[in-house]
Amino acid sequence: MENKRGSWGSNFGFLMAAVGSAVGLGNIWGFPYKMGSNGGFAFLLVYLLLAAFVGVAVMLGELAMGRKTGQSTVGAYKQLSEKFVFVGYFGTLCGFLILSFYSVLGGMVLRYAIGYLIAMFGGDGWAGQGTGFFGWLLYDSGSMLLFYALFSIITLVIVMGGVKGGIEKFSSVAMPALAALLLIIIIYIACQPGAVDGYKFVFKPNFEPLKNDFFGVLKTAAGQMFFSLSLGMGVMATYGSYLDKKENLQKNAVIIPFFDTLIALMAACAVMPACAAFGVDFGAGPGLLFASMQTVFANMGGFIGNLMGFLFYFLVLIAAVTSSISLLEGTVAVLNDRNIAKGKEPARKKNSLIIAGLIFIVGIPVALDALGSGGAAVPAPYELLGFTVEDLGAGLVPVAIDCWLDLYDCLSEGIFMPLGAMIMSILIGWVWGTKLVKEEVEAGGHTYKAAKFFEICFKFIAPIGLLIVLIAQIQSFF
Ligand code: PHE
Repeated sequence: MENKRGSWGSNFGFLMAAVGSAVGLGNIWGFPYKMGSNGGFAFLLVYLLLAAFVGVAVMLGELAMGRKTGQSTVGAYKQLSEKFVFVGYFGTLCGFLILSFYSVLGGMVLRYAIGYLIAMFGGDGWAGQGTGFFGWLLYDSGSMLLFYALFSIITLVIVMGGVKGGIEKFSSVAMPALAALLLIIIIYIACQPGAVDGYKFVFKPNFEPLKNDFFGVLKTAAGQMFFSLSLGMGVMATYGSYLDKKENLQKNAVIIPFFDTLIALMAACAVMPACAAFGVDFGAGPGLLFASMQTVFANMGGFIGNLMGFLFYFLVLIAAVTSSISLLEGTVAVLNDRNIAKGKEPARKKNSLIIAGLIFIVGIPVALDALGSGGAAVPAPYELLGFTVEDLGAGLVPVAIDCWLDLYDCLSEGIFMPLGAMIMSILIGWVWGTKLVKEEVEAGGHTYKAAKFFEICFKFIAPIGLLIVLIAQIQSFF
C-alpha cells in the first residue's frame, strides 16, 4: 500500500524513473558534442573512469541517504545532521534553477516535434522560415512562452499524479519507447553513405587533447558526468526515499550509470553520423540540437526526412520530460515532507502547482532573451551590466553572464551541484561514517560486496574529484 509520501510499485519502476531522470538533454545533446570536441575516445575514457570511481559512489550515497531517512533532501540532512541542512537547501535550489532553463529548452524541443508532425502531413511546420527557423524562434516571444508553458504543464501534470501513479507510470512506458526510437534512428543513419565519418569523429582515439589540456578534458567530463547522472541536488536521494527496503541499492547504483552512459553513447552514434552523412558541420552548443539537426532532416528530404525528424525530436522530448519531472519532484517532495512532519496531509497537488508556478516565473527571462543574441524582448545579463553584443563577439563578456541560461547554469551546475556533492561525500566518508551506507545496503539481506572500494571513493576520490570540478567550473565561468 502506498504510504502518504508515496512509493515505487516495483524496482523496475524505480529504475525506469531513475534512468529516466539521468537520461535527458545532457545525454542526447551535451554528450555527443562534448565528446567530439574533447578528443572523442580520450574523453570517453576519462568519462568512464570518473563515472566508475566518483559517479557510482555518489549515486549510492544519495540513494542510501534517501532510503535510510525516508526523506527528501532537506529532511534527510535534518535527520542526519541538522548543521548541514544547508546542503539540502543548496541541492533544492539547484534543481529549481536547472528546471527553469531545462523547461525552456524542453519547450523548444516540443515545438520542433510539432513542426515535423505538421510537415509530415504536408503543412509548413516552420512558420515560413525553413532551416532559418531556430534564429527566428528565439526572437518570437509568443512561441517561446507558449511552448515553455506547455512543457511546464506536462511536467506538472505528471508530478501531480504522484510517485507511482504519475512518475513511475509515465517513465515505465516512456523509457522503453525512447530506447526503441533511438535504435530505429541509429540503424537508419548507419545505412546512409558518409555516416562513417561521424563514428570516426566520435571514436577515433585522439590523445592530443589529453596532452594539451588534461585539466580541461577532466573538468568537462566531470561536469557532464554529474549533470548527466542527476547527482548533487538530491533528486536521487528523493527517488531513493521511495524505494522499498528489500531492494538492492548497490546493484541499482551501478545499473543507473550504466544505462545513462549507454544511451549517451547511442545518442552520439545517431547525432554525429547523421551530421556527417548529410553534410552538416558538427557544430556545438544549442546549434547542434536545433539548427544542425534541422538541416540534417531537411537534407534527408521528403517524407522520410520529416518522419525521422519527428521521431528524433519526440525521443528528445521524452528524455527531457522524464528528467524534468525528477527535478520538480525533488523540490515538491521537500514541501510534502514538511507538511507530513507537521502532522498535516502532504498536499502534493498544491505544492506541485506552487513550485511549478514559481519556477515558470524564474525561467521567463531564459525564454525571452534569445539566448543572449542581443536586442531581444528581455535583455541578457551582460546587456543589463552595460556590455554590448559587440563586446560579446569580441570575447569580453564572461560566460556566466552571456545569457540567462548560462547564468542559472553557472550557479546551479557550476557551483551548487559540485559543492553539495562534495560536502555529501565528505560527510559520508568522514563524519557519518561509511557505516550509514553499509547498513542501508545490507538492509534487504544483501551483501555489501564492494565495501572497501566505496570507502576509498567516499573518503578520497570523490571529494578530491569534486574539488577539482568546482575550481574548474568557477574558472571557466568567469
Ligand atoms: N540528467 C539530466 C540530463 O542529462 C538532467 C538532470 C540534472 C536531471 C539534474 C535531474 C537532475 O539531461
